Amino acid sequence: MSPQPQAAVGAPLSRVEGRLKVTGKAPYAAEHSIKGVVHAVIVDASIGRGRITSIDTDDALAQPGVLKVIHHGNAPKLPYKDNPASNNPPGGRRLQVFQDDKVLFHGQPVAVVVATTLEAAQHGASLVKVAYDAQKPSTDLAKAKADKPTKYARGDTAAALRSAPVRIDATYQMARNHHNAMEPHVTIARWNGNKLTVWDKTQWVVGTQTELSTVFGLPTDAVRVISPYVGGAFGSGLRCWPHTIVAALAARETRRPVKLVLKRRQQYFNTGFRPSYEYRLKLGSNRQGRLTAMAHEMDAETSSYETFTESILMPGQMLYSTPNVSQAYRTVPLDVNTPLYMRGPGFATASFVIESAMDELAATLGIDPIELRRRNEPSEDESKNLPFSTRRLRECYTTGARQFGWDQRRAKPRSRREGDWLIGMGMAAGVYDTARMPAQARVRLDAEGTAVVDAAASDMGPGTYTSQTQVAADALGLTMRTVTFRLGDSLFPPTPPHGGSMTMASVGSAVLDGCNQVRRQAIRLAVEDRESPLYGVDAEDVVVRGGRLHTKNNPVRGETYQSLLTRNKHSHLEAQGSYAGPAAKERHSFYAYNATFAEVAVDATLGLVRVRRMLGVYDAGRIISPKLAESQSIGGITGGIGTALLEHTVTDHRDGRIVNANLADYLVPVNADVPDIQAIYLDGEDREADPLGVKGLGEVVHVGVAPAIANAVFNATGRRVRQLPITAETLL
Ligand code: MOS
Repeated sequence: MSPQPQAAVGAPLSRVEGRLKVTGKAPYAAEHSIKGVVHAVIVDASIGRGRITSIDTDDALAQPGVLKVIHHGNAPKLPYKDNPASNNPPGGRRLQVFQDDKVLFHGQPVAVVVATTLEAAQHGASLVKVAYDAQKPSTDLAKAKADKPTKYARGDTAAALRSAPVRIDATYQMARNHHNAMEPHVTIARWNGNKLTVWDKTQWVVGTQTELSTVFGLPTDAVRVISPYVGGAFGSGLRCWPHTIVAALAARETRRPVKLVLKRRQQYFNTGFRPSYEYRLKLGSNRQGRLTAMAHEMDAETSSYETFTESILMPGQMLYSTPNVSQAYRTVPLDVNTPLYMRGPGFATASFVIESAMDELAATLGIDPIELRRRNEPSEDESKNLPFSTRRLRECYTTGARQFGWDQRRAKPRSRREGDWLIGMGMAAGVYDTARMPAQARVRLDAEGTAVVDAAASDMGPGTYTSQTQVAADALGLTMRTVTFRLGDSLFPPTPPHGGSMTMASVGSAVLDGCNQVRRQAIRLAVEDRESPLYGVDAEDVVVRGGRLHTKNNPVRGETYQSLLTRNKHSHLEAQGSYAGPAAKERHSFYAYNATFAEVAVDATLGLVRVRRMLGVYDAGRIISPKLAESQSIGGITGGIGTALLEHTVTDHRDGRIVNANLADYLVPVNADVPDIQAIYLDGEDREADPLGVKGLGEVVHVGVAPAIANAVFNATGRRVRQLPITAETLL
């Protein structure tokens, strides 16, 4: 088929749902108005480990409006069948709410109060008296025993380190981070006989559907999950958490639709988090800065009942050319709830360590940090012995250095001062893998010349509605206004999780396929229809623009979808688009890259760090939506400033309580913390990666931000801080 003119893809369009959002008309999970809804409030454990010895619900039940209190003493046994098709970590056993008297972590749900009003439910929850047999929890990563490591090795790292003329050996600590999206986690559940509908905050309606069906022992299609809008999630919506089960259970037990909104404090215990790490890295290098060896040892927290792992190993294996690499990744089970992916998962954590160590190596050798990275640029992925599909990190460095004014950086730390402020510049490389998974989409072109495209995808904010509409509009030859893309309903064709930066590549390729099929159907109809002006034309020569089919060379010869379909008495044309995912055995290695630059000012006496400017240059393949891509960079860099300087979930190890489980004490960047941010996307596409040529960008924009800031802090102060967040105390 002739390539379609691209009018929408690549144009800096505003969000198609933007007006709905800013006028409050886009319904988020808690805002669906469901007739007869009652309210549920979770009572959570006030001990960090132990057993429940008694639950007294008399006072709660005596309150007007309170309908029921459900807990392990009166809850029905739930099937909790295995669910392989989910983001539940393999191994272990997921938390089974109200199924026994065990408390596995502080804040675990131990009861739920259902009442006719939210106030009655909240008051009722405050009156439930739970007695415990408490034990001391183990919540300290540094003091707990680790599981057996996952290992990787190539070459002889120990020997190479011994003989290396230059060595760096340091241990880094990364604090636990919570996602803290603006929208809280919410579920509204309603039963109709044995059929369950939930309105949920989720990044994966299909995943929540399968989890609910396995927990309650229902056929998958007896559960419908609806989630048209998500107010940020950053990974926290990638699995179905216990509160969703609690809401569905409460609805079944009370025979009423139930709404359950987690309080801000409860998000810290009832959904996941970026695990804290202790990470030791040894680098060996020759005097010219060529890496000879890297040894990575990382310990990461997980829960006592599930083993959560993430892609922490990949960057150490493929970012730089290194003949000898060894890695040992150990999970450490603690009395905490299970972690989950958080923005740039694994890669962001590993990149802080690797990129800090590379900066240290550059300083030790007196080589410019960019030049050091260039010297270690691999010619292929040395972990897979595969060529990179596209890897334009060198261009990211060149463009970034020029744009940021890297030549103004003074190599010697602590050599630029403005009054009380020490000024420094730093950079880091970032990488994130180009994940793709099978996806489907349904496309329907109506005789009026408008189209509807459906896929079960989610949109937590990056702009899926808009970018998928752009792809569909160009493939169908329609304008943006005449295409509607719908998502967030498990009745729509299945898609992978809305995470790992794979929505554009996976769902987008399915949308593209479905729209191409429909356009092909219409073109065939025209060229075979004696009454069409296109009768007898080679189908290869027909394109569609603005809803009108015409020959490539003669725009006058043609007709609209509307006239073609109406004359042929077709109410619509329809197709199921699909994307099969990457080949089982890939011939390339697929990653998106960036070079991130930071300038900071550090108060010489107070240790305050202020980020003054940041720049990211991205090799992320084809950019469907430049305006939304820029928004992703602003968001990803802002999140990175949080990880670098502010965010830290603090646990009281005496009882496993998170002491800053609120947005006053858990610090996130506010406007005053966020400087001028500039984003540059390299032109181009990755035709090996997927039919759209995209590499994913939601995650990669976050990776490299924290080390760029840390390296700028070193350049400003001469202090190498190896822990996150970098607070004033660490600089005094
Ligand atoms: Mo992203 S951490 O996969 O939502």
